[in-house]
Amino acid sequence: MDRENIIGLLADIFERRGAESYLGEAVTVAEHMLQTAALAQAEGAPDALIAAALLHDIGQFTSEFGPYSPDDSGDNRHDEAGAKVLEGFFPRAVTECVRLHVAAKRYLCATDPTYHDTLSPPSQHSLALQGGPLTDAEIARFRELEFHREAVRVRLWDDRGKAAGASTMVFDDFRPLLQRVIEQG
Ligand SMILES: [Fe+2]
Repeated sequence: MDRENIIGLLADIFERRGAESYLGEAVTVAEHMLQTAALAQAEGAPDALIAAALLHDIGQFTSEFGPYSPDDSGDNRHDEAGAKVLEGFFPRAVTECVRLHVAAKRYLCATDPTYHDTLSPPSQHSLALQGGPLTDAEIARFRELEFHREAVRVRLWDDRGKAAGASTMVFDDFRPLLQRVIEQG
């Protein structure tokens, strides 16, 4: 697959799979990711972080375990699956934020006592499947990781990008930005 095709593949996932999947939330996954990217853009985040916000849940559709369901009794590892599909095309600033966006939730749960209650019910349910709040040793390891701060930023946009009925941009609006991020590597 070349660079042009990866954007086409992502567009296809957004349009066909993302537009029909809710994963227990009030918005479709496509709306959720578009809202997350819009929040990043509104904060003036760098292009790579906007791309990470836009693509952070793409692994819901590429995970061998399938997309999250409220009936799940195990973690679908969509964080790792998403990073894998983007690797080789996008820079680490993007792939690491995608890879770490679940760890960032677990980190925030362990370090901010008010955070857990702000999560949506599906996100609280998946937290348990993903291992719950990080332990002290895991917190220390997380803070050593490159891009962990950026991943926390993506996570906080992720948590807010679930507003039913909010208008969103469309995937095509982000094509030039994705192209730039890929070209700049
Ligand atoms: Fe998300």
